[in-house]
Amino acid sequence: MIRTMSNSEINVKILRFSREIGKEPYYQTYRVPLNERMSVSNILQFINERYDGGLAFYQSCRCGLCKGCVVMVNGKSVLSCTKIVTGDIVVEPRDRKKVIKDLVGY
Ligand code: FES
Repeated sequence: MIRTMSNSEINVKILRFSREIGKEPYYQTYRVPLNERMSVSNILQFINERYDGGLAFYQSCRCGLCKGCVVMVNGKSVLSCTKIVTGDIVVEPRDRKKVIKDLVGY
């Protein structure tokens, strides 16, 4: 479980999509308390644990080695496990054409 100690909150806007459901992709925004040194992965984990257990995203090594957690954050390709968040973010999958669900692709 991720603990937060700060009073600041950020907006995290995530592009959602499920190939199974087949609806058009849509953005969903969450308000998330921001702690120092929170990575994008930490924030996605927080949302998954607190708000939406159906949010799909990739995690493996969590230390920048496997390169499997690439997502687009504010339009730039980043490793979600090492990218530290300092303000509002928009999180999208690496390749929208290859999305299986939310931020997970093939
Ligand atoms: S989870 Fe392995 S590089 Fe991010």
